[in-house]
Amino acid sequence: MALINENYLKLKAGYLFPEIARRVREFSSANPAAKIIRLGIGDVTQPLAPAVLKAFHEAVDDLGTTDRFAGYGPEQGYDWLSEVLIEKCFKPLGVELKPHEIFISDGSKCDCANMLDIFALDNKVAIGDPVYPVYNDTNVMVGRTGEADEKGYYKGVVYMPFTEENNFVPELPKEKVDIIYLCFPNNPTGTVASKDELKKWVDYANANDAVIFFDAAYEAFITTPGIPHSIYEIEGAKSCAIEFRSFSKTAGFTGVRCGLVVIPDEVKGTKQNGEKHPLNKLWLRRMTTKFNGTSYPVQRAAAAVYSEEGWQQTREIIDYYMENARIIREGLAEAGITCYGGVDSPYIWLKTPQGLSSWDFFDKLLSECHVVGTPGSGFGPSGEGYFRLSAFGDRDNIKTAVERIKNKWGN
Ligand code: MLT
Repeated sequence: MALINENYLKLKAGYLFPEIARRVREFSSANPAAKIIRLGIGDVTQPLAPAVLKAFHEAVDDLGTTDRFAGYGPEQGYDWLSEVLIEKCFKPLGVELKPHEIFISDGSKCDCANMLDIFALDNKVAIGDPVYPVYNDTNVMVGRTGEADEKGYYKGVVYMPFTEENNFVPELPKEKVDIIYLCFPNNPTGTVASKDELKKWVDYANANDAVIFFDAAYEAFITTPGIPHSIYEIEGAKSCAIEFRSFSKTAGFTGVRCGLVVIPDEVKGTKQNGEKHPLNKLWLRRMTTKFNGTSYPVQRAAAAVYSEEGWQQTREIIDYYMENARIIREGLAEAGITCYGGVDSPYIWLKTPQGLSSWDFFDKLLSECHVVGTPGSGFGPSGEGYFRLSAFGDRDNIKTAVERIKNKWGN
């Protein structure tokens, strides 16, 4: 008898984005003439930077030669990529890392989920609300939670509300927690945390022997000077934080797949007997057993993102998306809709007009404006009454979507 992992049955029937896709498919087959603009899932639309594409092609060609052929690479990624990342992404922030402290992967979603493998089930986790659903659902899947209550809060999880009142930076938890998920620039609210705000979390984690999972997938979209791009810019973070980064949004790799995890040697977990153990060693053990490395051409393409030419071209694409964000933000403001984010992040978090529920607004926006977004309540109960628009669209579509929203909701 093959017993199933019944923790999966505690989850809502479908993951948020496939549920949105299902509703859009339904609408679209009933209304084939509707020109639907998709600003829901944060999926990029612009092609890879030419220098990145060139490196990708060349690496594929390498595989057709005997002297440059690449078979299994190191499970944790090639040193030449980690060295590029250290030089180009961390050194400029004043953060010193060693290549073995960086693990290259096939993306941040898997990393955040898989990281739970190396932590005991009886840890207490603190998760934002609203939040990127993966943090919550993967904790449910491994069995760290009880059932959800009628609002959608799972028993055993400490939820940290991200609200207008706290400026979308949560308070420290009142009860002691062991693992804290922080994501800045935040998905879904698009808001950021200052160094002082992050310092409180780092101090809390160090004082309580907790570990911070810091998701920095959107760091490249920060435009405000002084906002931290990495948790390691905060004093003390190297002894309590794991950082997740991704090429998905930064370099248009949502289909290519490449991410990284940083685990400094200093960050340690605790054994039942109270002894400390480096998390880097555990994660290496996990990676070498369960993963065979990100493909060679993908890692070559990733390294090319940070070549002089590659970064200039990549930066232009990021700026393009951020101009989209400005157009959405300002357009919504003109329509009298309150919104947040969109300055240091490609996401705009808006308050639904006329007090509509998030899903009612979703349905109205889809049926009347033919625009798809993401209902805030899909990210957690505190997201109710909010809605997320992504700036990763094509410029003409963004302008059209904003016009349609203004025509419908503007005064
Ligand atoms: C989102 O829209 O929140 C993201 O694209 C989802 C993801 O990165 O997995």
